[in-house]
Amino acid sequence: MAKAKTVFFCQSCGHQSPKWLGKCPSCNEWNTFAEEVIQKETSRNTLVDFSLSRNSIPKQIKNIQIENEPRIDTKNAELNRVLGGGMVPGSVILVGGEPGIGKSTLMLQVALKLQGLNVLYISGEESEQQIKMRAQRLGDGNPETFILTETSVQAIFGHLKNLQPNVIIVDSIQTLHTDIIDSSAGSISQIKECANQLQQYAKITNTPIFLIGHITKDGQLAGPKLLEHMVDTVLQFEGDRNYGYRILRAVKNRFGSTSELGIYEMRNDGLREVSNPSEILISHRDEQLSGITIAATMEGLRPMLIETQALVSSAAYGMPQRSTTGFDSRRLNMLLAVLEKRSGFRLASKDVFLNIAGGIRVDDPAIDLAVVSAILSSNEDLPVSQKVCFAAEVGLSGEIRAVSRIEQRITEAAKLGFEKIFISNYNYKSLVQKNNNIQLVPVSRMEDVFRALFG
Ligand code: TYD
Ligand code: MG
Repeated sequence: MAKAKTVFFCQSCGHQSPKWLGKCPSCNEWNTFAEEVIQKETSRNTLVDFSLSRNSIPKQIKNIQIENEPRIDTKNAELNRVLGGGMVPGSVILVGGEPGIGKSTLMLQVALKLQGLNVLYISGEESEQQIKMRAQRLGDGNPETFILTETSVQAIFGHLKNLQPNVIIVDSIQTLHTDIIDSSAGSISQIKECANQLQQYAKITNTPIFLIGHITKDGQLAGPKLLEHMVDTVLQFEGDRNYGYRILRAVKNRFGSTSELGIYEMRNDGLREVSNPSEILISHRDEQLSGITIAATMEGLRPMLIETQALVSSAAYGMPQRSTTGFDSRRLNMLLAVLEKRSGFRLASKDVFLNIAGGIRVDDPAIDLAVVSAILSSNEDLPVSQKVCFAAEVGLSGEIRAVSRIEQRITEAAKLGFEKIFISNYNYKSLVQKNNNIQLVPVSRMEDVFRALFG
């Protein structure tokens, strides 16, 4: 009997090696190599019928017709937004996220909403009954959605041939296995081969496929790099389990921007789309508290008003602590240094804690002014009115800098009932049209802001 051929795969990045290695030369992770059997190479390529393939002949670029990339509406506005306007036929979309975050719920909800299309939901994780129970919980949907509980890729391809679905959802890629390879389901070589075959199927038949993927403890998609290269779009479903809401973001997208966010709220009857995110990102309180300000930020093309909370207190130990959630801690240190050096506020001996409400992460520099104002508000123990918001960057010399898309931020703030917005003087001067529903407060230095807020 021929000896089984085995190779070692890095479980983190999929790097292949003929012998065991302590450290992966590709991703530098330690102790990630595992042995996997690869054999039966002979039966390769028997699954996908290449005669189905369109004739591919070399064409001059001028002769290539651009058809308006037709998109399939997912009937889920937030998902459409993240995908860049809907599913592209023949694309493979990987949806990653921690266990229990709601990947299966989201995809089943999409499957049930796609009325008029032939949708196949393949589950290797739950039984038909469990899926039916979940579907009932989600409420009415397309009764014609097909459910298949199967993990063998060979068997799945058999069903695909008969059913010819318009959209396929696989929950999850780690549960699939193909007979071509001997190693167990979930191993790197299995994931790679199964994803490869599904990818070929998608391209040949022009069917969009969603692959659900698990994330390992340290936040990596199992077999991450290798899957990321193979698929067209990688979506990450994240959120704090203590908060009801979830954020869907594109990490990679061949057919759209990666700066868009989709926001959902997990409820008893499934995921609700949150079309106005500011409603959940600003806590509604009756009393005025110090240390809380609102920033008019942008996520992709969407304006969002977000609450920033700061707590400044005298350091209990010699070394003052600086701690942030949802904000870059180095940037906080920089802003504190600017306040200390340029504006003369004494914060060096204080503990500073900063929190972006709602468990989301903000990288938009326009949040700077709100962060700084929240710190000053907490330091002075004087509240900032809830009707005031901020949109400006703070520079190293304490100057208030202009930010992009200021009109959109102002319009959103006015729409949500804010009475005043602090913006950079430079932005103010360049405004073509002033919004009459909100008072604009142009500022050029930190001191102006302090004076306007606290007198
Ligand atoms: P699930 O979609 O199974 O997560 P994943 O596939 O990412 O592992 O979601 C599981 C969680 O969602 C579970 O803790 C219960 C919760 N949930 C609701 O709160 N409401 C609902 O309607 C459903 C279906 C689930
Ligand atoms: Mg699941």
